[in-house]
Amino acid sequence: MSVLFSSLTIRSIQLKNRIVVSPMCQYSSEDGFATDWHLVHLGSRAVGGAGLIITEAAAVSPEGRISPNDLGIWKDEHIDGLKRITQFIRQQGSVAGIQLAHAGRKASTQRPWDGGKVIAPTEATGWQTLAPSAIPFSEGGPEPLALTDEGLEKVRADFVLATQRSLEAGFQVIEIHAAHGYLLHQFLSPLSNHRTDMYGGSFDNRIRLLLEVVERVQGVWPSTLPLFVRISATDWTEGGWTIDDSVRLAGILNEKGVDVIDCSTGGNVAARIPLSPGYQVPFSEQIKQQTGIKTAAVGLITGAEQAESILANGQADLILLAREFLRDPYFPLHAAHELGEEQAWPVQYERAKPR
Ligand SMILES: Cc1cc2nc3c(=O)[nH]c(=O)nc-3n(C[C@H](O)[C@H](O)[C@H](O)COP(=O)(O)O)c2cc1C
Repeated sequence: MSVLFSSLTIRSIQLKNRIVVSPMCQYSSEDGFATDWHLVHLGSRAVGGAGLIITEAAAVSPEGRISPNDLGIWKDEHIDGLKRITQFIRQQGSVAGIQLAHAGRKASTQRPWDGGKVIAPTEATGWQTLAPSAIPFSEGGPEPLALTDEGLEKVRADFVLATQRSLEAGFQVIEIHAAHGYLLHQFLSPLSNHRTDMYGGSFDNRIRLLLEVVERVQGVWPSTLPLFVRISATDWTEGGWTIDDSVRLAGILNEKGVDVIDCSTGGNVAARIPLSPGYQVPFSEQIKQQTGIKTAAVGLITGAEQAESILANGQADLILLAREFLRDPYFPLHAAHELGEEQAWPVQYERAKPR
């Protein structure tokens, strides 16, 4: 029996295998609403046999969106559309997770196929971005506003409300997005956080907002359901956030009851990233080995044997795939065949199952 197709129980939730759809922005919402696109996109991957499906970054507030077309969960009206998706995912024997996010200084941009450019707050479709410090993401870009105490409380409260709505919508896993240079990562990294108050300077100060968000989310998220945090394990830049910082943070999150650290990298500043198959796996391995917390590996994982060996070598507990799932929504069904595993196909598709 492969590890990839062994089940994993986290709190009260049993995942039927270790294959997870990594969060992927679809930029297909208006005013944050989930659409038919989301149902079909996420639903197809549930039909394809993924154990867990995590939605794209869902913005906890309108100003926390990367683009005007991001998925959102900042108002109760968003719940119904999301509920339809979680129900379908569950009917396929998969588990629905949601990534809760605030883009901070990387907000207010066009979606990629519209050019991906920054939208200035003075433009009709743009807005004023927020950040730990008034340092733009790219040189010459619009300056974000440094969050005030009141602004910080709004961020925490928005995560709480988003968590409550996620529960109501039927999600069984929450992932807090603290990676890729978005707001919580901006606080972690000395490259983007130049604050002189209790949220900047020392390591303890820079991780404070993330810990507060985690605690506040846990206050309303049932202890029977898993909580993941996605981090960028390194900024790949001198003077930035490091893997040693990540290990330290993961140890603290482990003690606080976070279940899984989803180990990505980069995104906070322009950096040269040495891309190769499974290039982020060593970070997952180090965090797992040194803290004992469960980890998820992600990044250029594209094959069944590759995924299996990462798990079998004790480098991660879960495998997240993003682009491979865009190429092949049925990746788990194909991987099971390749590894000689018995995985149920949807009854509607059984006549096509390789024997
Ligand atoms: C279209 C697309 C959208 C993405 N959107 C998100 C997102 O919303 N949240 C996130 O944490 N990562 C996002 N990512 C990053 C992926 O989750 C993943 O970490 C990255 O693509 C590396 O995995 P891969 O090599 O399997 O694609 C996105 C990636 C792609 C390709």
